[in-house]
Amino acid sequence: MTGPFAVEGGTGPLRGQLRVPGDKSISHRALLLAALAEGPSQILGLSSGEDVLATRGAVEAMGARIDGPVLHGVGRTGLHEPVRVIDVGNSGTGIRLLAGYCAALPWLTVLEGDASIAGRPMDRVVGPLRQMGATVDGRSDGRFPPLVVRGGGLSGIDLDLAVPSAQVKGAVLLAGLGADGPTVVRERVRTRAHSEEMLADFGADISVSADGLTTTLRPSTLTPCNVQVPGDPSQAAFWLVAGCIVPGSEITVIDVYVGPARAAFLHVLSEMGADISQVRTGNTATITARYSPDLQGVTIEGDVVPGLIDEVPVLAVAAAVAEGETVIQDAAELRLKESDRVASTVALLAALGAHSEPQPDGLIIHGGAALRPGSVHSAGDHRIAMAAAVGALVARGTSFVTGWDAVRTSYPEFERDLATLQAGGTP
Ligand code: S3P
Repeated sequence: MTGPFAVEGGTGPLRGQLRVPGDKSISHRALLLAALAEGPSQILGLSSGEDVLATRGAVEAMGARIDGPVLHGVGRTGLHEPVRVIDVGNSGTGIRLLAGYCAALPWLTVLEGDASIAGRPMDRVVGPLRQMGATVDGRSDGRFPPLVVRGGGLSGIDLDLAVPSAQVKGAVLLAGLGADGPTVVRERVRTRAHSEEMLADFGADISVSADGLTTTLRPSTLTPCNVQVPGDPSQAAFWLVAGCIVPGSEITVIDVYVGPARAAFLHVLSEMGADISQVRTGNTATITARYSPDLQGVTIEGDVVPGLIDEVPVLAVAAAVAEGETVIQDAAELRLKESDRVASTVALLAALGAHSEPQPDGLIIHGGAALRPGSVHSAGDHRIAMAAAVGALVARGTSFVTGWDAVRTSYPEFERDLATLQAGGTP
């Protein structure tokens, strides 16, 4: 346990260029898919966070060998039953993807995590996996971890996704790899497309409809694939918001993934009046944010919400310093993340002197606040901790973020990168 993180606010601009850690969603999937392929896959730029390390531990526990950047996959028949319980730490993505992955493997897997994981809903994956024929159990009839998965003998299903969730889509597709017959996942709102994109890269028999909403997968054997993991847009968001709100700043983040349902926060920031520009190459971009003194409040609602759900805490910080009101609605999923992010975001803003109101499915932020230093508790949530640090940068004086350890789950280098930008440099 480390102490609180002390942030000095009002000390000057942030300037420089950096690359954020490899995308977390892509990193989890790269490890899982490479382990199921027979032969070596090189994975470069993997996220250094503890969430991804836990998934690495999971595939190693089932027989994959990792040597530097090379994962030696052993194929479905080369993997084996893990001898111990798999601990996913704080990772909701890890436990849900692994539940689907292990449902297709003919043995017993027990998945557990930390106190936050113990309260995260699992019925959204357990239900479809049971429909596919897997035996999955957990606390409260499978609603909460630990999960006990007895895999194998699956049939494909045709699933209408009730909750827009890329984790559930991913879990069902991973299970579908080992089912008999095709698996179809139908979404009403597009969610991040990493599972589909990467299954195709690893040679799965998969097709996606032109509107991106219907994915059809046939049982497949995977082939190794080298993966260059691009930077995580959800981590880039912290610096891009910091660049917009700290006077005199100019921050460039290179090699950021901006594929489907991941870059919506950039549109919202632009709509708020942020000076943000991007140069795209395929699904990645170099993005620059400059100090933007005239930010305005906006309404964030409807189908864009799943595509920026992870960025809400830091967007709320931008909204607090913007003029006018920002309304975030249709975002009830915020309450089911690493913390209840409606409550923890309202508390973070209040600790820094901004006023917002919780709503059942979002929050209303009253902008125009001159943020003042305070003490923010992370609620064990990495994104709350980092959003608080960004807000604290514009509050003249010293703020403290307690529970800062949470940042290790996704961005262990955050403090180093902040120091580099404060020094006006490039790491
Ligand atoms: C993720 C999907 C999203 C996101 C999470 C990562 C993924 O969760 O919030 O950080 O990698 O599939 P949901 O599927 O719950 O929306």
